[in-house]
Amino acid sequence: MRFYNVLAFLCTFLAVSLLPQSASACEGPCITNITNEYIERYATPMKTLMDRTNLQLATRFNLSSSTNCASHLKDAYTKVAYAFLENAIFPSYFHGKCQQPTANGTLVDPPGCPNPDCPVVCGTPGSLVHFFPVLRNITFKAHEDIFTLLTKQDSESFQDVKTCVLDAMPTKKCPKESAHDKRSISRLFAAHISRSSGRRTYSGILPRENCYDDAIFEQDLFYVLQHNMVQMWPGVCDARNGLRNCSWEKPIKAVISGFK
Ligand SMILES: *[C@@H]1O[C@H](CO)[C@@H](O)[C@H](O)[C@H]1NC(C)=O
Ligand SMILES: *[C@@H]1O[C@H](CO)[C@@H](O)[C@H](O)[C@H]1NC(C)=O
Ligand SMILES: *[C@@H]1O[C@H](CO)[C@@H](O)[C@H](O)[C@H]1NC(C)=O
Ligand SMILES: *[C@@H]1O[C@H](CO)[C@@H](O)[C@H](O)[C@H]1NC(C)=O
Ligand SMILES: *[C@@H]1O[C@H](CO)[C@@H](O)[C@H](O)[C@H]1NC(C)=O
Repeated sequence: MRFYNVLAFLCTFLAVSLLPQSASACEGPCITNITNEYIERYATPMKTLMDRTNLQLATRFNLSSSTNCASHLKDAYTKVAYAFLENAIFPSYFHGKCQQPTANGTLVDPPGCPNPDCPVVCGTPGSLVHFFPVLRNITFKAHEDIFTLLTKQDSESFQDVKTCVLDAMPTKKCPKESAHDKRSISRLFAAHISRSSGRRTYSGILPRENCYDDAIFEQDLFYVLQHNMVQMWPGVCDARNGLRNCSWEKPIKAVISGFK
């Protein structure tokens, strides 16, 4: 008898847990739509960041203000943004169904789950709505992480920006085995140091030879991109005021709530 009870229990349990629970999680179109919605919304703060980066590059390397070397970062962002963002939101944080086992082993949805406002962290629309401030943080941080990756010196996009800036500069590279190597290097340091003391000299450029040193140029470019650009991001989104410029709470909640 007991065996049959256990068997009956197992059958019920299996039937319940294997039933297609199609309506309970944010899957397929729900995931792609929400991710794409964020990418579309972020286009505006992205443009602000890229414009400011171009300005920083122009100032630092004495480029014409119409030079758009940051476009290489924008292109690289476009290639990776969807996969990066989807991964940051869904498998990494909002995943699984909200159902919880009861004493008799069946699974039930807690109140508000999967919709409309589910106080359990899981991959359902109601959970995304309830934990919207976390979702907002995740998308902001994912962007910051993407920018950090794209501006690493060994990344293709960094090298593309470098080529672009060098093409826009009138100065040529210094000959490697120059007779004045030793003197050049000390002058280079002098130029490098005087910049921080406020005199207008330009990254890695040896004034007399009118050429630039590749290593110092690359360091300076790295500094502009990693420090100035990445560090501008919280300001662009207004992180001090709850990321209000990268929130879009009403419209995004409306999109999420469209998935039942
Ligand atoms: C998401 O879905 C909504 C409603 O179907 C639609 O209006 C919106 O354009 C979609 N957004 C994206 C980015 O696909
Ligand atoms: C900056 O560029 C302008 C023209 O693009 C040039 O006239 C000026 O001499 C440059 N300044 C320096 C310090 O290289
Ligand atoms: C299991 O318990 C829940 C309440 O906790 C009840 O709603 C459900 O009907 C029960 N299911 C079975 C198969 O006994
Ligand atoms: C969002 O991030 C900020 C800054 O890191 C933090 O203070 C805040 O607690 C986070 N909010 C949530 C809901 O995780
Ligand atoms: C944030 O958005 C407001 C309103 O759209 C705008 O006036 C403000 O300049 C933005 N802040 C930043 C730091 O871009």
